[in-house]
Amino acid sequence: MSEPTQPKGSDDPAQVAAFEARIARGETIEPKDWMPERYRRQLVRMMSQHAHSEVVGMLPEGNWITRAPSLRRKISLLAKVQDEAGHGLYIYCGTETLGVDRAELIDQLLAGTAKYSSIFNYPTLTWADMGAIGWLVDGAAIVNQTMLAHASFGPYARAMVRICKEENFHKRQGYEIMATLAAGTPAQKAMAQDALDRWWWPSLMMFGPSDKESPNSAELLRWKIKQKGNDELRQRFVNLTVPQAAAIGLHIPDPLLTLDKETGDWEFGPIDWNEFMQVISGNGPCNRERLAARRKAHADGAWVRDAAVAHAAKDAARSAA
Ligand SMILES: [Fe+2]
Ligand SMILES: [Fe+2]
Repeated sequence: MSEPTQPKGSDDPAQVAAFEARIARGETIEPKDWMPERYRRQLVRMMSQHAHSEVVGMLPEGNWITRAPSLRRKISLLAKVQDEAGHGLYIYCGTETLGVDRAELIDQLLAGTAKYSSIFNYPTLTWADMGAIGWLVDGAAIVNQTMLAHASFGPYARAMVRICKEENFHKRQGYEIMATLAAGTPAQKAMAQDALDRWWWPSLMMFGPSDKESPNSAELLRWKIKQKGNDELRQRFVNLTVPQAAAIGLHIPDPLLTLDKETGDWEFGPIDWNEFMQVISGNGPCNRERLAARRKAHADGAWVRDAAVAHAAKDAARSAA
């Protein structure tokens, strides 16, 4: 992989000022443009976490593909899980434009030193969880990623445009599962409610800690990697989702949820950040299982990578001849 466009720690104040002026004018930064080392590192951190989340995110749902209740549901779920693999690949490619090798990022994931979205460390206990994940987890991802489609770094922003289109399908298939179950037998409705009860709070945690507590927020906003803060995005998600729950007769599990008539915002109760910190630091219900599954998949796929490298070498030899 090529080296970054300038050596580490060489940020010249005049170049930084010119870079910040470009950002302020709303220009898009491309891989070959000069960028502060810290901007590059923030992007690598954020994009690799995002790519890992797409890939690890396949596991909780992949768990239900063989148990989907009908052929139609199986086809939709299969397509969705496959889309997530594609999202991971686009974003890993995007990080490669910043001078990082994808293999290095995957090694960090497998070694347990990289972060990914905490929500994928929760178990999928019933079929209704497929509904709750599509509706809430992909729904939260859309709120985040629609904003990232305007990020200042071109390759990341462009990847988000296509990803968001697919996320919309993911959300709709999830909401349809929930609506069908909620309109079904009392046992089916109870299963849908139980899934909502378990996934609601982890979904709110997906936006990350409050901006006041988030060490990276201010810098990401200043460089327009992010356009909106975590709290504002979380509020937008709650405002969108509360009426959707009501429309299918499900209850949001928050006794403090109230509509502020002046702002139009649904105010919600306190989030258990202690739980979030526990899960993000490796102590969630499925952290070990998820990493073990990724390690096994990586080991099982070694022959495919070897074959691809051998094929590429043969191709290169042939075209050289
Ligand atoms: Fe995705
Ligand atoms: Fe998705």
